[in-house]
Amino acid sequence: MTAQRRKKPEELRSHRWYGVDDLRAFGHRSRIKQMGYAAADYAGKPIIGIVNTWSDINQCHAHLRVRAEEVKRGVWQAGGFPIELPAMSLSEPVVKPTTMLYRNFLAMETEELLRSHPVDGAVLLGGCDKTTPGLIMGAISMNIPAIFVPAGPMLRGNWRGKTLGSGSDTWKYWADRRAGVIDDATWGEIEDGIARSFGTCMTMGTAATMMSIAEAMGLTLPGASSIPAPDANHPRMASASGRRIVEMAWEDLKPSDILTRKSFENAITVDMAVGGSTNAVVHILAMARRAGIPLTLDDLDAIAKRVPVIANIRPSGAFLMEDFYYAGGLRALIAKLGDHVDGSQRTVNGRTMGENVQGAESYNDDVIRPLNNPVSTSGALAVLRGNLAPDGAVIKPSAAEQRLLEHSGPAVVFKDYNDMAARLDDPKLDVTPDSVLVLQSAGPLGGPGMPEWGMLPMPKKILEKGIRDMVRVSDSRMSGTSYGTCVLHVAPESAVGGPLALVRTGDTITLDVPNRILRMEVSDDELERRRAAWTPPKPHYPRGYGAIFARHVTQADQGCDFDFLAAPGKVPEPEIH
Ligand code: FES
Repeated sequence: MTAQRRKKPEELRSHRWYGVDDLRAFGHRSRIKQMGYAAADYAGKPIIGIVNTWSDINQCHAHLRVRAEEVKRGVWQAGGFPIELPAMSLSEPVVKPTTMLYRNFLAMETEELLRSHPVDGAVLLGGCDKTTPGLIMGAISMNIPAIFVPAGPMLRGNWRGKTLGSGSDTWKYWADRRAGVIDDATWGEIEDGIARSFGTCMTMGTAATMMSIAEAMGLTLPGASSIPAPDANHPRMASASGRRIVEMAWEDLKPSDILTRKSFENAITVDMAVGGSTNAVVHILAMARRAGIPLTLDDLDAIAKRVPVIANIRPSGAFLMEDFYYAGGLRALIAKLGDHVDGSQRTVNGRTMGENVQGAESYNDDVIRPLNNPVSTSGALAVLRGNLAPDGAVIKPSAAEQRLLEHSGPAVVFKDYNDMAARLDDPKLDVTPDSVLVLQSAGPLGGPGMPEWGMLPMPKKILEKGIRDMVRVSDSRMSGTSYGTCVLHVAPESAVGGPLALVRTGDTITLDVPNRILRMEVSDDELERRRAAWTPPKPHYPRGYGAIFARHVTQADQGCDFDFLAAPGKVPEPEIH
């Protein structure tokens, strides 16, 4: 390997703030000294911004306050100067109406925090669903050296000796409760046992998926994404990341040096192999566009067709992230994927993906399956098209009941979430197990923010028959911990007049996953008549961030980024006056 060129101290970005002899630099130096630091602490050293999504209300990031200190330990050890920059925390279950409304906010905040401060390198602390893509999108756009420190999954849930998985078991036992099988006391016990440590959801939900994707893109230290948050290896990884970012600042190893079309294809490959969340689709598209790499839904579908699900983790499989870690974690999974992964891609530690996974072993072939014995051959993702979704829709076949993957049935249409909540359990609702539940007004503009309503609850009278899945179609997303035959991300969405807005109760809907079709059996003439009578909904927000969101958010097939943030072009460095 050729020797890496190292920056000189006067080439560091922060030198413009602290290293020159003028009035402004005097002000910056005197103010850093105000905090008790001496020149020996900071002068001529890379300044490392630790963008921390810790908050008192983010259960998944409760340890990130301490982890930031452990990152700082590594930064000090390597001769850097750490500064912590708090950013929006985005607790998935708590933030309303949905964290997806604020992913772009965090991305913009991350980019601007890094741009406006004297930062030479960034450590990104996140993991709860939208925080990973938000932080990475911002770091890609800012394009200074950056390393991602995944929050890591929480420990397995436990209830009466049974293992409980975040989300997946909530949905499962909630359906039992609605069917009258579970009483109040039992429900309370499940509530006590399902989330018993800090860390992210420990199923292969959006958090574990996106942390795995970050590693597969080359943006974390090897193996970082699988370490359970409470494991002592986690703070060691945090400190090691702190040491490494200082070197990256000297080497000027930026996201643009790491991210290529191939590294994104590696990320998609890993996403499919872990049975990743459908949410990853919008995040991958958004991150790729920030990096100037034109990926499409069809690129994801092509990879989904050839990569089987080999991580046996809920909701596609049986185990949890803690089991995955003990089985060898993501390095072992990538090693098992062999030629499906391009090992020549560069990563943050300066080595290639191939070098990083060399010798990685799987210690449990049931948790990390060989390619010839996958958990599912039906795939973690299928992209559907047809007159109901001209710009595409997605489904996760591996989490659906296989009998429903080729299905035609009459639509039962709900015009929005409140309509669904009001009528779903009405005994008079004309619904059978063959019906197709359709939810409108749940997309990026309609939700607003494309909430996770896509796993529409099953009508009570269907549940009481012992049936736990039916075809559901919407322009919303679903939690990565969800399961069922749920067609999601229908584009264009109903709120902008997409064909989903034109579906009426009783229309026949055809889902044909093997042939990638989503269609409503309604003539073009009739659809034109309905389109002419359609009126757009009133905007949700008269002012504020929500109004900006509505004006600039793109549709699901484009990644739901803001048009002005996804746009190419370099923002100039700030003037220092
Ligand atoms: Fe934070 Fe699931 S709630 S990762």
